[in-house]
Amino acid sequence: MAARYDVIVIGAGAAGMMCAIGAGRRGRRVAVLDHARAPGEKIRISGGGRCNFTNIHAGHKNFLSANPHFAKSALARFTPQDFIAIVDRHGIAWHEKTLGQLFCDNSAKDIIRMLTDEMRAAGAELRLSCTIDTVEKTATGFRIVTSEGPFEAASLVIASGGRSIPKMGATGFAYRIAEQFGLAMVEPRPGLVPLTLEPGLLERLSPLSGIAVPAEVRHGKTAFREALLFTHRGLSGPAILQISSYWREGDEITLSLEPDMDFLAVLKTARQANGRQAVQTVLADHLPKRLAQFLAEEQALNAPLADQSDKALGRLVAAIHEWKIKPAGSEGYRTAEVTLGGVDTAGIDSRSMEAKAVPGLYFIGECVDVTGWLGGYNFQWAWASGHAAGDAA
Ligand code: FDA
Repeated sequence: MAARYDVIVIGAGAAGMMCAIGAGRRGRRVAVLDHARAPGEKIRISGGGRCNFTNIHAGHKNFLSANPHFAKSALARFTPQDFIAIVDRHGIAWHEKTLGQLFCDNSAKDIIRMLTDEMRAAGAELRLSCTIDTVEKTATGFRIVTSEGPFEAASLVIASGGRSIPKMGATGFAYRIAEQFGLAMVEPRPGLVPLTLEPGLLERLSPLSGIAVPAEVRHGKTAFREALLFTHRGLSGPAILQISSYWREGDEITLSLEPDMDFLAVLKTARQANGRQAVQTVLADHLPKRLAQFLAEEQALNAPLADQSDKALGRLVAAIHEWKIKPAGSEGYRTAEVTLGGVDTAGIDSRSMEAKAVPGLYFIGECVDVTGWLGGYNFQWAWASGHAAGDAA
């Protein structure tokens, strides 16, 4: 005998739990199935353990999707303020860190506890360590055969996330279900991920490993101003993670280090005031010392400032503000915070998240082709899309 529910949600992550809360509150009998031993594992490790649970500026422009308008409806009907209201109701202390990013004061576990408490209050059941074997359509809904026996429900919500961090149980399950039911896909790829460099360039930049610097990183018309970090594998830091979602293999990115600093004026003034100084000494007033030394040496500006022409200083400033780099690749799903692409939004109703061609089947969260910037946007999408499906399933 199959266990019967109104709604089965596969995936007890951010989106799945949010959906279960909404559907449960509407009086639907809900079960959430997850193969992991604990719910919300990505929430637990997010934001360095403090969960950047939303961004007060979240709007559809902060998301990448083949259809940039798709996320509008769900985001408008469940806003950052709506999530903050739940957080406040549970007495969870939070603070704004930077750029509208909200973090827990104490621990990401507070958010997981909040969601599981809300699920319990809504009457939704949580079945962990539950492996999904098969999913099929029946005359009345769906039959899901699992390690815990068969389940049947009128509505099936797929909330199993993307491929990022396989070590944490990411499976690509949602994509297989989309394929099984004939839904189109936008090719998944790693997003918010450090970029790697080819061996020669990596060797050249090895003295910079560990240095962080404020930067503007550009790819085409897209630019982000945040910290950039040189690593022993290549480039990382928020500015790089952000641009990585726009970057494609073979493309160049442009780095502008300390983008607001008028280095040409600084160098010319220093040359006039004390021409005996080394170029790197002047740069080191505004950039990390090892980086200043590297930049001066790369341009072979070893002679004192007084001996440097305007042209030579101009070349140096271009190297600082227009540094073009062609990354070799990315660190891939092993470290990517999110998966770009996924279930094509063309096949999904933007209001309910229901598959247009398969009534009763819903896709929410990261498995859908909607990916946010770094900074709490991805959780906001998980909450908003989960809420939309919870209202409809
Ligand atoms: P999510 O991946 O959270 O949940 C999917 C669930 O499905 C999991 O519980 C999984 O076990 C389960 N599952 C998968 N396959 C299954 C299968 N075959 N059978 C059964 N169950 C299955 N975002 C943000 O806004 N702020 C932040 O601070 C961070 N920080 C962050 C740090 C790190 C290290 C990572 C990797 C990611 C972030 N993110 C983030 C991104 C954020 O974690 C992500 O966008 C959401 O967790 C996506 O929520 P979902 O519910 O869609 O998937």
